[in-house]
Amino acid sequence: MSTKTTSKIERNGTEQMNPVEENAGIPVNDNASPKKKSQDKKPVIGILTTNKLHSGRIKPTGVQGELSFLSRMEKRVPAEVYVFRPWDIDWGNNRFTGYRFVMEEDGYGRWVKGPVPPPDVVYDQIYTRVAERRYQQDRTRLNKLTKGRYFNPCYLNKHVVHDYLKDVPEIRPHLPKARVLKEPKDLTSMLASFHNLYLKPVTGSLGRGIIRISRESGRFVLKSRGGQVRYALSIKDVYRKFRAIGGRRLYLIQQGIDLITFEGGVVDIRTLMQKNDKGMWTITKVYARVGRKGNITSNLASGGTPYPLNEVFKQYFDKDRIAEIKKKIRALSIKVCEALENASGHVFGEMGVDLGVDKDGHIWIIEVNSKPRRTVEGKGSPKLITLSFTKPLRFACYLAVNGPVRPGDKQNGKGVK
Ligand SMILES: Nc1ncnc2c1ncn2[C@@H]1O[C@H](COP(=O)(O)OP(=O)(O)O)[C@@H](O)[C@H]1O
Ligand SMILES: [Mg+2]
Repeated sequence: MSTKTTSKIERNGTEQMNPVEENAGIPVNDNASPKKKSQDKKPVIGILTTNKLHSGRIKPTGVQGELSFLSRMEKRVPAEVYVFRPWDIDWGNNRFTGYRFVMEEDGYGRWVKGPVPPPDVVYDQIYTRVAERRYQQDRTRLNKLTKGRYFNPCYLNKHVVHDYLKDVPEIRPHLPKARVLKEPKDLTSMLASFHNLYLKPVTGSLGRGIIRISRESGRFVLKSRGGQVRYALSIKDVYRKFRAIGGRRLYLIQQGIDLITFEGGVVDIRTLMQKNDKGMWTITKVYARVGRKGNITSNLASGGTPYPLNEVFKQYFDKDRIAEIKKKIRALSIKVCEALENASGHVFGEMGVDLGVDKDGHIWIIEVNSKPRRTVEGKGSPKLITLSFTKPLRFACYLAVNGPVRPGDKQNGKGVK
């Protein structure tokens, strides 16, 4: 192990409130011995993170909650599961160090560190674009080591997603018109066609940086996520005011959808799509998010509240229509995941699809997240929460045996690099 790598571990250790413990008498990996490896070997799943690993009482929200929960799901799947970080890999000697979360009786948990075998499959749980870039070299090596058994390899951006989806015939009618905002004339054509527009940073999330442009008694109205309102009299003025708020970031202009509302808040639908143990896309969870009254976004991070679909749909649609819309939501979400995998050439194990439904019951694709987050606690049933963590691990087992799907394969008919 290089001194550079070692010092990084030490630094990381001292930074933590409660540093991880060295293999405290717990067999982190009982398959580590080469002898045992050859017999009946369980797949080894490495969950890749760049987050610190805190011991102590784990907050159920946030990455710590998710990583510790995932680690504890090892007991539910026929695999070895550990969490690891790029800087722990000793590439020179092909030695890996992993962490497992162990829960104490008093409700405290700790990460136990120890030597582990190289992963057969990598489940990428790196949660920033910056970290993805910083550890690109390690990620590429891991992809090579696992022969492409590496899933959720990257964030997508809103423009790329639009580009990937726009030529798929079954998806096209559900895709709001969109274009990149470079100059005022990009707004001119969009404003000529639609009565309101959503401007979104292409790499944004959590509703941050979103601005809605609409028209009201002869003027343009710019409304930010925070609720600030600005007025403009010409498109040039709109552009200037937009840049004053949005800065130089790359933005996508998207046709505004007349979303259904619930108690005065805009509603959108989130589907958590995950592959199952047969490598097929399935819908794990679907719920409506109701934005705060007067807000332009419905993200939970912007004060939105989750609701069951039926509750928001029943004000607009009858029973049969609701059943039909739900069926379409499912089919469209699966199509979207397949299309994105196909176009990107990457293997994904899960996606979060944001859909809008208008008053006619038409479904619109608002955006797709390739690294959706899950909550460890919340309104959802404990069974569903557990499922949302075990499904990707079961998919990892499938991937370990079958490898990534190649072009021309029957399964989904997709090509994955
Ligand atoms: N084209 C649109 N029409 C209507 N509402 C939209 C549109 N685009 C986004 N929104 C609202 O803004 C929210 C955030 O937009 P989204 O594209 O999902 O960005 P983020 O990555 O920040 O979540 C959506 O959940 C929805 O409530
Ligand atoms: Mg979103």
